[in-house]
Amino acid sequence: MRLLVVLAATRALTPAPKPAAVTRRTAVAGATVLAFASPAGARRRNAAEQLRQAVFGAVADDPTVAGALLRLAFHDAVRRADGQTRGADGSIQYEIPDAENVRLGRPLALVMAMKPDGLSVADAVAVAGAAAVEASGGPRIAIGLGRLDASAAAPATLGRPIAQPGDEARDVVKRTLPEPGLSTVGLRRYFRRVGLSDQELVALMGAHTLGRHNTLLNMTKACLRNLTRECLETAPVRAPFESRTPDAFDNSYYSLLLAWDDRSLERGEANFIPTDVALVLDASFRRHVVAFARSEPLFRATFARAYAKLVR
Ligand code: HEM
Repeated sequence: MRLLVVLAATRALTPAPKPAAVTRRTAVAGATVLAFASPAGARRRNAAEQLRQAVFGAVADDPTVAGALLRLAFHDAVRRADGQTRGADGSIQYEIPDAENVRLGRPLALVMAMKPDGLSVADAVAVAGAAAVEASGGPRIAIGLGRLDASAAAPATLGRPIAQPGDEARDVVKRTLPEPGLSTVGLRRYFRRVGLSDQELVALMGAHTLGRHNTLLNMTKACLRNLTRECLETAPVRAPFESRTPDAFDNSYYSLLLAWDDRSLERGEANFIPTDVALVLDASFRRHVVAFARSEPLFRATFARAYAKLVR
């Protein structure tokens, strides 16, 4: 009989395991898991493996796909229809029209095209993000399966902003997705809400070792006058967060952040946004930046733990 490892707490499509089928208890990524046999679980695991292989193929054909898939998983996990603060729920399929999800229509369509039957959209998005990291040279990330799909978009703003008297505007967290201008205070508050420690948030931000963001360079005058959604979807020049190895999942993001802090960055080597730079402006964050710049294995292990927590 094949043994399957499934998260015990999974919001499962999985029927509750019969006590006799439970054979082993162990712990993976800090979560208690049960090992038991279940035909539905076996189908999901096979489907997830097929999707993982398909992502490897897609990234081999076009390495820039990896960043888009990872960003898709982040945006799905933190904006949840049930108001929880993390855990992929597939609500992203209803949220693509929102401004914060510019350019995520394509990776979502890719996931839907590659997704075998038997996987929820939430599982597929979470698996594709993990596989994209692995296909770019990052760690293999163990995640559970059995997430249920939301049936509607999640609210884009928090019920009540997270604020304290005397806050600067950049300290206040207002939205379910983080704003790129958040200060160190805002960034910490945001990821505390998501349930991550300083070390885990600094590791998760290392996702920006992959991928690019839009610039205004070479845009038509019409686009510069009126920055429509279409202009943003088709921006001709995208700047990599870090230019040394923008398609490789490695720790160069952290050494470039330290070079930025030392003012020894060469022009064009990195194109950070304020929340990246926040990681070297705060003493506790900076300690982890230094540790991840020194130790790629530490970065990989912490990223894998933080990602598994994010998509749960
Ligand atoms: C404070 C937190 C964050 C902010 C403000 C932020 C903001 C952004 C912005 C503005 C872009 C550029 C989008 C574009 O122009 O296409 C971007 C790209 C990206 N983000 Fe983040 N991000 C944050 C955290 C994360 C996290 C936690 C992950 C993943 C775990 C992530 C993964 C990515 C990836 C991979 C890209 C590149 C996408 C591509 O190449 O298509 N980001 N992010």
